[in-house]
This record gives sequence, C-alpha cells and structure tokens, in this order.
Amino acid sequence: MDPTSVALEEEHEALTKVKYIDRIQIGRYEIDTWYFSPYPEEYGKQSKLWICEYCLKYMRLEKTFRYHMSECIFRQPPGKEIYRKSSIAIWEVDGKDHKIYCQNLCLLAKLFLDHKTLFFDVEPFLFYILCEVDKHGSHLVGYFSKEKESPDGYNVACILTLPPYQRQGYGKLLIAFSYELSKLEEAVGSPEKPLSDLGRLSYHSYWSWVILEILRDFTGIISIKKISQMTSITEDDITATLNSMGMVKYWRGQHVISTTPQLVRLLINSSHFKKPRLVVDTSSLQWLPPKKAQVKPVRK
Ligand code: ACO
Ligand code: ZN
Repeated sequence: MDPTSVALEEEHEALTKVKYIDRIQIGRYEIDTWYFSPYPEEYGKQSKLWICEYCLKYMRLEKTFRYHMSECIFRQPPGKEIYRKSSIAIWEVDGKDHKIYCQNLCLLAKLFLDHKTLFFDVEPFLFYILCEVDKHGSHLVGYFSKEKESPDGYNVACILTLPPYQRQGYGKLLIAFSYELSKLEEAVGSPEKPLSDLGRLSYHSYWSWVILEILRDFTGIISIKKISQMTSITEDDITATLNSMGMVKYWRGQHVISTTPQLVRLLINSSHFKKPRLVVDTSSLQWLPPKKAQVKPVRK
C-alpha cells in the first residue's frame, strides 16, 4: 500500500477500535474509562481491570489483585522524588530505567486520552508523577511526560489527572510545574499538539492567569518577548492568549500588546482570571536540568 493508504488504514483502525475495558479499580477508586487502550489481548477483553496504584501492574481478577496488594513491596513511584510540599509529592521517572512502570502508566493514561500516545517506546521520555501522600503510601493523582530532547520545543508530551482528582487544581499544578522545569532549563516550551478539549481549557486558564498577573503588577512597557522570558511560555502561546482576551494588535509586521490598566482590571474580574487552587512552591523543588546536573562543581 502507498503511504497515504497506510495512514488512512491506521486511522480507520484506531477509530473503529472497540473499548472493552469499561472500568478500572485503582487504589480505593473504581473509575469509568473514556477511551480504548491497547492492553494485551487477554486483558483488553475484560470489562474491568484491577490496577495496583503503586507499581501499576494490571490484573484481570480481583483475587489476583488482592493477593498482589498483600505482597507488592512498592508504596510510591520509582525514580527520584524531586518535589514535596505538605502532602503533595512529585517524582521524576526515567523511561529508560523503569520501562515497565512507564509503559503501564501510558496504558492507563490512554484510557482517558483520545489521541495517540506512546505506549511501548518510553525510553526517550521522562515522567513526572504527582501523588498525594498519606500514612499508607503515595497515591497516584496524575502525571505528565516529557521528551528528553524535543526538536519541536515541547515541554509536555502527555498530561493527565485521574478522573476522581480532576477539577481540584492538580492539572494546573502539573502545568505550572512543567514551566518551572523549563525556567530552570532556561528554555521556553509548549505542550505537544493536538491538545484535547480539556487540555486546551486547562492551558488557556493557566496562561491567562500568568499573563494577567504580570500585566497587573508591571508598570511601564512590557513586550510579548519579555513575558515569554519571565514565564517560559512561548511567544506564540502568549500571543494567542492575549488575542483571546482582546489585547493584541498587529503593528509594523508584528504582534504587540495593546491594553490599558482598566482593561486589565476588567479581565482580572472576569472568568479569564482564575487563581489556581494549588501553586508550585519553588523552594520545595529539588531539581537541576540533566545537562547542568552533569557538570561537576570545580573545586578551587
Ligand atoms: N469543564 C470545564 N472546564 C474544565 C474542565 C471541565 N470538565 N476540566 C478542566 N477545566 C478547565 C477549568 O478552567 C479548570 O480550572 P478551574 O477549575 O479553576 O475552573 C482548568 O481547566 C484546569 O483545572 P484543574 O483542576 O487544574 O485540572 P484537572 O486536574 O482537572 O486536569 C486535565 C486537567 C489534565 C486536562 C484533565 O482534564 C485530564 O486529565 N483530562 C484527560 C486527559 C487529557 O485530555 N489530557 C490533556 C491532553 S493534551 C496533552 O496531553 C498535551
Ligand atoms: Zn504493585
């Protein structure tokens, strides 16, 4: 078949895939699934899958699950804990070092993502796993993945909050966290496209809040480029967000900010400005970009 037919064939196959797994049990939650995920044939035909919330192993039978939970030695994600603020913690997990865990995470995430995601080729990615910690262990809330090297300048590949935890601020916390990493890398970044509807809403809400806070507090002249340097948000994403709030004009071949203190005040009192429920405390983040971390300190 020619390449176009192959692509069409693949698209057709993806669209017509039947979702067999209706529900999963993970930790104390039973969750209805949203989309197809390519679990191995013998698991994919179950209506309910049982998943260990710590190592993410999936099982067909409740009996196996109960036995596994009594013998599983893990109580938190693998990898390195890089953030802890009261009961919230984030781990960095390298797809190369913890392949099975990351593959299991991608299979789980696909149940809630409609577009293509990686499943088996996890080695080129880092995974940032957000958990709520209590005396029993670290309970998976959500995560985002990130390419180790992104030629397109993406700082997030896939992002997910498990449904029982959605609409409580964890998504925007993960988004804010991804930009904190980009700031430490001294780079700008953007989420991988296409965004889902929920992804677009969450990013738009985050970008609008960040930009309006800067415009509110800044006196003098500020450019799109400057906002990008301060936030690690790309100039394109800033321009699009400003545009949606009616604050951009095209002048001498480029986009420029066009606003007044009154308009900024009006927007801050509108639905464009939603202060996030959870924010990143940068003093609780212990992380250096891989390249910088490799540089050994020179002893004088
Ligand atoms: N209806 C309306 N607005 C919503 C909804 C919803 N169901 N969900 C989120 N939003 C908007 C709101 O503006 C919300 O802010 P608010 O609660 O202050 O009004 C904002 O998005 C984000 O809310 P959070 O609570 O911070 O985010 P949440 O924890 O719900 O996670 C996420 C957002 C990750 C997109 C989640 O909905 C999810 O996992 N969806 C399924 C997977 C997905 O679509 N991921 C993104 C794919 S794109 C990519 O991966 C690059
Ligand atoms: Zn386990």
